[in-house]
Amino acid sequence: MALEARIPRAFPNVKFLSYHSKKRILVTGGAGFVGSHLVDRLMLQGHEVIVVDNFFTGRKRNVEHWSGHENFELIHQDIVNPLFIEVDEIYHLASPASPPHYMYNPVKTIKTNTIGTINMLGLAKRVGARVLIASTSEVYGDPEVHPQPETYWGHVNPIGPRACYDEGKRVSETLSYAYAKHEKVSVRVARIFNTYGPRMHMDDGRVVSNFILQALRNETITVYGHGNQTRSFQYVSDLVDGLIALMACNYTQPINLGNPIEYSIEEFALIIRNLVGGKNSIKKTKAVEDDPQRRKPDISRAKLYLNWEPKVRFY
Ligand SMILES: NC(=O)c1ccc[n+]([C@@H]2O[C@H](COP(=O)([O-])OP(=O)(O)OC[C@H]3O[C@@H](n4cnc5c(N)ncnc54)[C@H](O)[C@@H]3O)[C@@H](O)[C@H]2O)c1
Repeated sequence: MALEARIPRAFPNVKFLSYHSKKRILVTGGAGFVGSHLVDRLMLQGHEVIVVDNFFTGRKRNVEHWSGHENFELIHQDIVNPLFIEVDEIYHLASPASPPHYMYNPVKTIKTNTIGTINMLGLAKRVGARVLIASTSEVYGDPEVHPQPETYWGHVNPIGPRACYDEGKRVSETLSYAYAKHEKVSVRVARIFNTYGPRMHMDDGRVVSNFILQALRNETITVYGHGNQTRSFQYVSDLVDGLIALMACNYTQPINLGNPIEYSIEEFALIIRNLVGGKNSIKKTKAVEDDPQRRKPDISRAKLYLNWEPKVRFY
């Protein structure tokens, strides 16, 4: 039959690792944008990778090129429910990440970042695994300190529309250090800044995808507010390098992973329009509530402890 004729499938070449160096690695949210790129890297390195995802924003097609590989397993599960498996390392990425997705069901976003994180820390404790939590620059809220070092405690509105995500991630960090201190779980915390690359969601309200789509569709490019608010953007391969280096290092405090080159949103709209080669007009619309005005990571810690800095230039 035509369907069976596709078997056996060809897979990308993965490195051979001996029994001692091969790890079993769980990636929660591994069918999402960042998670799927991390899965690719870990698979190519020769590890066994288990993805747990509820496919809220993730897609099977992001990891389908590994489906059927002996080192790969995909589990359809919501991490709000406990999981009982044996692993050496956990990259905990499961959480909606863009405003429309995390605001869609704020209570669920909080549950994912609290109960879900407790479940992953509990699993790490039971099996003695190291766990890396994907936190966010949103823990700094609308920052009064610029650029943002990890020592800054943040300026978050606890009852605003973004609070389910910002406070959810802050509690996720709190839980991690509580488990580290009282349960001796080995934790790593990555504070991830805006990231872009292939497989990111279209039309999810994030600035990179919004502007590119509007430019490609020859629509007006919409800038929320005055356009002087700033962002910095890192390419996903740089983030994956940073996450793997952080998991491997001995440093246990939070580390910023982001690109410190900063653009104003208006400047950024012009760059995208020029790259796409369109003639779109740029229109300013109503500002978004609690939109952070400035965003730029201080990456001194990452440079010092991970020997990491972004390599990919924005353009
Ligand atoms: N992309 C960025 O710019 C960025 C910036 C800061 C932090 N982060 C963090 O990185 C992680 C990954 O972000 P992303 O951009 O890949 O987002 P994404 O939405 O593409 O991926 C998140 C994944 O988690 C899954 N998920 C959500 N809730 C779940 C649940 N309850 N149980 C199981 N799976 C669940 C989704 O289906 C999806 O596959 C998130 O934790 C996010 O907060 C991302």
